[in-house]
Amino acid sequence: MQSLLSIRFLRSSRSPVNVSPEFAEPAMQQILICQNRTCLKQGAIAVLAAFQARPVPGWSVIKAGCMGQCGNGPMVRILPDNIWYCGVRPEEVPEVVKRHLINGRPVRAMLSPHFHAVPKSKL
Ligand code: FES
Repeated sequence: MQSLLSIRFLRSSRSPVNVSPEFAEPAMQQILICQNRTCLKQGAIAVLAAFQARPVPGWSVIKAGCMGQCGNGPMVRILPDNIWYCGVRPEEVPEVVKRHLINGRPVRAMLSPHFHAVPKSKL
């Protein structure tokens, strides 16, 4: 009965429950690459292959459905950072891997202007 009351207290409590870092869920680090029709026509298969050829520990490469940005692809979204890249070319993938995934600094010149204030310089 005591444990049931404790569970109810935890569920009803508005204060965050402290969880030891060793038991905390790691944030999902994902590279989502749109593989829907329009992005496929714009070269998304090669972009997916470029990311798969450069695996980074702790990061998952995910084939994604339409991201609602058709025509601006190939679209790549990085989570949990919620960074969107548009018009990604396979030859740009090593830069994203090195600067963003490994060093934690998004590649400003590739950011989608729809989601980020920095304009894409290559447009
Ligand atoms: S097809 Fe890729 S964003 Fe819609």
